[in-house]
Amino acid sequence: MSTQTSPSPSLSLGATTVDCLNVRPGIPPQELSRLQTSILNLKKQKNAVILAHNYQLPEIQDVADFVGDSLGLSYQAAKTTANTIVFCGVHFMAETAKIINPSKKVLLPDLNAECSLSDTCPAEELAEYKRRHPDVYVIAYINCSAKVKAQADIICTSGNSLKIARQAPEDRPIVFLPDENLGQWTMEKTGRQMDIWHGACHVHFIFTSESLQRLKMKHPGAPVVAHPECTRAVRLLADHVCSTEAMLKFCREHPSTTIIVATESGMMHRLRKEIPGKTFIPAPTNSCSCNDCGFMKMNTLEKVEHCLETLTPEISLDPEIQRLAFVPIQRMLEASKA
Ligand code: 13P
Ligand code: SF4
Repeated sequence: MSTQTSPSPSLSLGATTVDCLNVRPGIPPQELSRLQTSILNLKKQKNAVILAHNYQLPEIQDVADFVGDSLGLSYQAAKTTANTIVFCGVHFMAETAKIINPSKKVLLPDLNAECSLSDTCPAEELAEYKRRHPDVYVIAYINCSAKVKAQADIICTSGNSLKIARQAPEDRPIVFLPDENLGQWTMEKTGRQMDIWHGACHVHFIFTSESLQRLKMKHPGAPVVAHPECTRAVRLLADHVCSTEAMLKFCREHPSTTIIVATESGMMHRLRKEIPGKTFIPAPTNSCSCNDCGFMKMNTLEKVEHCLETLTPEISLDPEIQRLAFVPIQRMLEASKA
């Protein structure tokens, strides 16, 4: 087991940690639907904050206080003063917010919004692996359950995996879990040797190099930006590989006005909204021209409204798991500031 100390459930994050977050500009009231207006009113009444991942439906992103990647949303969860967090994302993300904020109510509009990648690393299998490798240093991608986080030395996201791996102790073997593509990419970029768990995201796994090559031929000169959960064959065709939040920066700064984007479809809304002068083309799989995460898309405006009306469904965790899982998350938040 890793050396976990008893955590204090509070975080000192300093002023530098929120740079990656984007405070949402308000949308003109005449453009809001009835549901969106109701959600914004309820949010005020209940002193709630809505945090939404970049893969959420456009109409949810438009009523969120913050939209971002897993890292940005973790920082935001750590600094909110709201009593209630409505987390529009998937289960492990809401769990992370709860671990950081044990005394707050954390709501997930649809409790079935799981993550297939997270499921590839059951806590019992990790416990068994650790029994066989007692000295191992566990880097757990944030896309894992609280029970897995509770056994990790440090958490990482796609936005900071390189930084986290570079800071890992030199004198211990490392295992990276559960995403093998992010793990391989992290290993290639940092030169750190790691044992890699065999897990993958079904959404990113199905982008193929063949379909991407065909699209590149139709748009000669258009750069490709890809999420590191994509396979190596796809990553090799990309001009830039990065987290969803970093895609915004790349697309804003790149001189090309047409950019091919290999990640989940929700990202297109943010890119098109925040960089209106450019054309974003979703990378195709072999069977479709834009790729949805069915789990992310389980959250709807109706469910967000219901959440705020009833203050359910709520994330609840075993206090001991919560206490243990807090340690590696806190280490990540501290380490990725450096
Ligand atoms: P980001 O942290 O890059 O937003 O990715 C989260 C995720 O689930 C990717 O599939
Ligand atoms: Fe999980 Fe993949 Fe969906 Fe991200 S896109 S939440 S990794 S299933």
